[in-house]
Amino acid sequence: MRPSLRVLAAEHLALRAVARIVAIEAEILRRDGRADIDLLQNIAAYIAEFPNRIHHPKEEDVLFRRMRARAPQRCGAILDHLLAEHVSESASIAVFLAALADFRAGLADAATNLARVAASYAKYLDRHIETENTLAFPLAEEVLHETDWDAIDAAFLSNADPLVSGDESSRFRDLHRHIMALGALPPGL
Ligand SMILES: [Fe+2]
Ligand SMILES: [Fe+2]
Repeated sequence: MRPSLRVLAAEHLALRAVARIVAIEAEILRRDGRADIDLLQNIAAYIAEFPNRIHHPKEEDVLFRRMRARAPQRCGAILDHLLAEHVSESASIAVFLAALADFRAGLADAATNLARVAASYAKYLDRHIETENTLAFPLAEEVLHETDWDAIDAAFLSNADPLVSGDESSRFRDLHRHIMALGALPPGL
């Protein structure tokens, strides 16, 4: 696999693992009205920033931009769809954060609402990633030239984005590890 696609694949795995925990927490909340607030707060902190600061810019500004430039007809519809989902993802995350705040404040119906919002976010994220993995990335392999891939790989590996320092990347890695540890099933189950 090309280095840039390997980076995106690793980020997709990380995001999907979080989506799976969100779906499980939503189901526990729906059934029992219980929630692991510490876990949900950590997830909120992660999804509030990681997609927009780390993941989407690589897709939008580097990979998708070159795909559209190389083959606007073939790539237009799928890229428009994915970009629209990135925009609506920011809105869904804001709704998730608000639902979590309401739940923490003990508002009426907040548990049911948070369970619904969390389940729908988890489902969206999983589908979006599936679309990128199975449609967009294979299409990129078809339409991009070797010179495009060289430039994309270099952009991904250079850490050229001034918004993302090495410290910030490791902060998200630590936060993800913490979420995985909190969300792990107890031994024996
Ligand atoms: Fe995406
Ligand atoms: Fe993605």
